[in-house]
Amino acid sequence: MRIHLHVNSWARREAAASRVSHLAFGGAALCAVGPQPLPMVACPGRPSVPSSGRMRIRMAIKHRPSAEIREFLAFYLLELISAGPFRPAELGEQVARESKGDLRPAEADLRAAQVACWEGGWMECDNPFSDRPASLSAQGRVQLARLRRAAGKSCASAEPRQQAADVLISRLPPPNGEEVLDVGTGDGFLALKLGEAGFRVLGIDTDADAIARARRQSAALESRVRFQVGEIHEFARSGLRFPKVVTSYLLHECDDPFDVLEAICACLAPGGALACMDFAANTAAYLSGVGCTPFHPFRALAKGDWQHLAPRLGLGDGEYSITGYVAVATAINTGDAVSGRAAEKRRNSR
Ligand SMILES: C[S@@+](CC[C@H](N)C(=O)[O-])C[C@H]1O[C@@H](n2cnc3c(N)ncnc32)[C@H](O)[C@@H]1O
Repeated sequence: MRIHLHVNSWARREAAASRVSHLAFGGAALCAVGPQPLPMVACPGRPSVPSSGRMRIRMAIKHRPSAEIREFLAFYLLELISAGPFRPAELGEQVARESKGDLRPAEADLRAAQVACWEGGWMECDNPFSDRPASLSAQGRVQLARLRRAAGKSCASAEPRQQAADVLISRLPPPNGEEVLDVGTGDGFLALKLGEAGFRVLGIDTDADAIARARRQSAALESRVRFQVGEIHEFARSGLRFPKVVTSYLLHECDDPFDVLEAICACLAPGGALACMDFAANTAAYLSGVGCTPFHPFRALAKGDWQHLAPRLGLGDGEYSITGYVAVATAINTGDAVSGRAAEKRRNSR
C-alpha cells in the first residue's frame, strides 16, 4: 500500500490565484491519504471553512495544526520504509517530488516526524535523520497497521469508487480482443480493473510519473494492459479509433470538460461505446453524510449536463447512474461523434 499525495488542479489554480506560490504542507487537507488514490481527502471533524475557494486554501494552510502534519509525515515515512529501502533524510524531497513541488513540509515538521518514528522504535536505523536506508521494526509494522486502519476510516469514500468502476465495466460490451482506450489513466486505476476483467487496454496520460507507476502496477497483466504518455487532443490527431473508450476522474480536472470530451469522442469508432465516471453532483453532501468535510467544490458529472452534452457530441442514448458519490455515464457513438462545437470551430477556422 502507498499513500498517494494528490493535489488536484483546482487546488493548484486556487493557490496561483491567491498568490500562494507553494501550498504549505497544511494543504494536506487537499490531498488524498490512504490505500487508494482518492479524488480528495475527506477529513472527519474539520471545522467548516468560509465558502470562497480562495479563502479555503488560506484557511487550510493557516489552521492545520502542526501535530496533524507531523502525524501525517510519520505515517508517510513508515509507508515509504515499508515499501522498500528508504532513507529517512529524504522524506521532505520525496513529499515534494510526489506532489510535484506543491507540498513542502516545514523542516521542523519533518524533523519531528522523523524523531517520532525513531523514538517510537518504529524504524531501525542509526539515527532519526539517517541518510542510510532504514527498515521497519516489529513495532513499526504494528503502528503502520494502526495508521492504515485510521486512514481507511477517513477514506470511507473509497468503496463507491470501486463499485462505480464495476458498474462502468458491466455496461461495456464484453471483451473481444480489441483494445479499450483509458484517457487520463493516472496510476491505471480503471485500466487495471479492466485488465483484470479480461479487456485489453491502452491507458494514456500526460503525467509521465503516473504512467511509470501504472506500468509498475500492471506487471502481472503485462500482455493485456499497456500505458503511454500522451495528451488527449494530440492523441486524437493520430487518427486511431477505438470501439471502447473510458475515462475516470478526468473531467473534473479539466478547465473545459466539453473540449476534452470532444477530443475523447474523436477517438471513438462509429458505433463505439464511451463510458465516463466522475464526481456526481451529490459528492459534497455524500461526504458530509459519512462524517467527512469536503474541501473541494467537486465539479460534477451531473445528469442534466450529460443529457445536454451527449447529443452535441454525437452520442446516442446511454445510461446514467450514481453509486455513492460517483456518476457513471455511458453512451454509444452514433457515427458522428465530433459534432456541435467542433463543427462550429471548424466552420470558424475556415
Ligand atoms: C484525477 S486523475 C484520475 C486518474 C485515474 N483515471 C483514476 O481514476 O485514478 C486525472 C488524470 O488525468 C490526466 N490528464 C489531465 N488532462 C489530461 C489530458 N488532456 N490528456 C491526458 N491526460 C490528462 C492527469 O494527468 C491525471 O493523471
